[in-house]
Amino acid sequence: MNSESGETFQRVNPADPDEVIGEFQKGNVLDVQKAVDAAEKAFEAWSDTPAPKRAEYLFKAAQLLNENKVELSRIMTREMGKTLSDAGADVQEAIDVGFYAAGEGKRLFGYTAPSEKPNKFAMTIRLPIGVAGLIPPWNFPIAIPAKKVFYSLLCGNTAVLKPASDTPLCAIKLVELVEKAGVPKGVINLVTGPGETVGMALIRDKRVRVISFTGHKDTGATILREAGLKRLNLEMGGKNPIIVMDDADLKLAVNGVLWGGFETTGQRCTAASRVIVHQKIKETFEAMLLDQVRRLKLGNGLDPKTDIGPLVNKAAQDKVSRYVEIGKNEGAKLLVGGNVPKDLKGYFFDPTVFTDCTANMRIAQEEIFGPVISIFSAQNLSEAIEIANSVEYGLSSSIYTNSINNAFVAINKLQAGLTYVNSPTIGAESHLPFGGMKHSGNTREDGPEGVKEFTELKTVYVDFSGKLQKAYID
Ligand code: UN1
Repeated sequence: MNSESGETFQRVNPADPDEVIGEFQKGNVLDVQKAVDAAEKAFEAWSDTPAPKRAEYLFKAAQLLNENKVELSRIMTREMGKTLSDAGADVQEAIDVGFYAAGEGKRLFGYTAPSEKPNKFAMTIRLPIGVAGLIPPWNFPIAIPAKKVFYSLLCGNTAVLKPASDTPLCAIKLVELVEKAGVPKGVINLVTGPGETVGMALIRDKRVRVISFTGHKDTGATILREAGLKRLNLEMGGKNPIIVMDDADLKLAVNGVLWGGFETTGQRCTAASRVIVHQKIKETFEAMLLDQVRRLKLGNGLDPKTDIGPLVNKAAQDKVSRYVEIGKNEGAKLLVGGNVPKDLKGYFFDPTVFTDCTANMRIAQEEIFGPVISIFSAQNLSEAIEIANSVEYGLSSSIYTNSINNAFVAINKLQAGLTYVNSPTIGAESHLPFGGMKHSGNTREDGPEGVKEFTELKTVYVDFSGKLQKAYID
């Protein structure tokens, strides 16, 4: 449908900005109102549909995603830049979430508890919240929109999806498949357009009862200010540390740092952007890491030989360049990278490693969202944990060690929603809770928590004593 604005916007391929991916509707406030109208209208029938029945649509949608996995992955690589294997993983995550969420349709568990009174029954049930506003980021162009759509719909909500303006095509393809699966009209609605107008209209609309947002913490803070009294599920950034202890398997740790730091070109909220290395092995570790970083191949993600695709757009490339300058001026030592490669025309950036970083540096504190790793040295585990916790974020974290004691101290003390032992900070599995502490977020998505995000918990008392029983008085 055409936007009320009569305007459109373009998206180009970040690996080759001459290639236009498509022309998309530049939605405005009126479009959002129409979408919320449609979602409101569809709510009663959808929320009255039994959850196992709603789940059948999701099951079908997940099957359709599976059938279209190759095509969707290619679209994603062209639209967003991530490598084809990374894009395949993104679609696979959406498929897995679809099947998991469909399974939840037969659970949606509440619980029972004994009442303090005789002949009185107490239990909880889960009810939908209402119209959900879904605002996913561009870095997982299918997986994150899919998880928000699947969980909100499974729980009986209707939804308006506002995709990121860098990846509208993937979101459109996803919604087309959800509709093809038979989800009734009005249950899922999509409005493309700028965050400042479309996103803000959705956030401010009083009829929207829950917002599920993944993105930058500054946008999260704006949502908190502007949304009024509605449920807000905010997933934000990270400055995720990998600790490498002197007893670690160094080869494993180097591979983990490479994967965690540079997969998706470092554009994950879970990316390993800080590596805190025990001083005894720092030199060896750095030499091993550099050797690997130098072998990484930049290029178009469609080329199977490519390790690292482009950044999402020019602004992202400029931001990474700015942070590299900041790091140099702060006195961090540039070990490798630091440049925009001259021989590629897309928004590429060389994989970059700084060392001798200190916790107060901006490159040690702020989310760069690009292929930049900062190395720190620590004398022991407690100093490493202190550095790890010295940021405002708390999403993911990791430790490489062969000591069970070190591992469990880190598990207890790292301030993060996720801690990995002997694997990097990325790669959360979609049936387990996902989310951060501190300024990384205020919720948990995925698995059983995904259901909590999109339901109201009602407490029900049934008194079958036939008399008035006065709580805490009788
Ligand atoms: C994000 O970058 O917003 O754990 C989420 C991971 C992914 C999720 C990242 N499954 O790396």
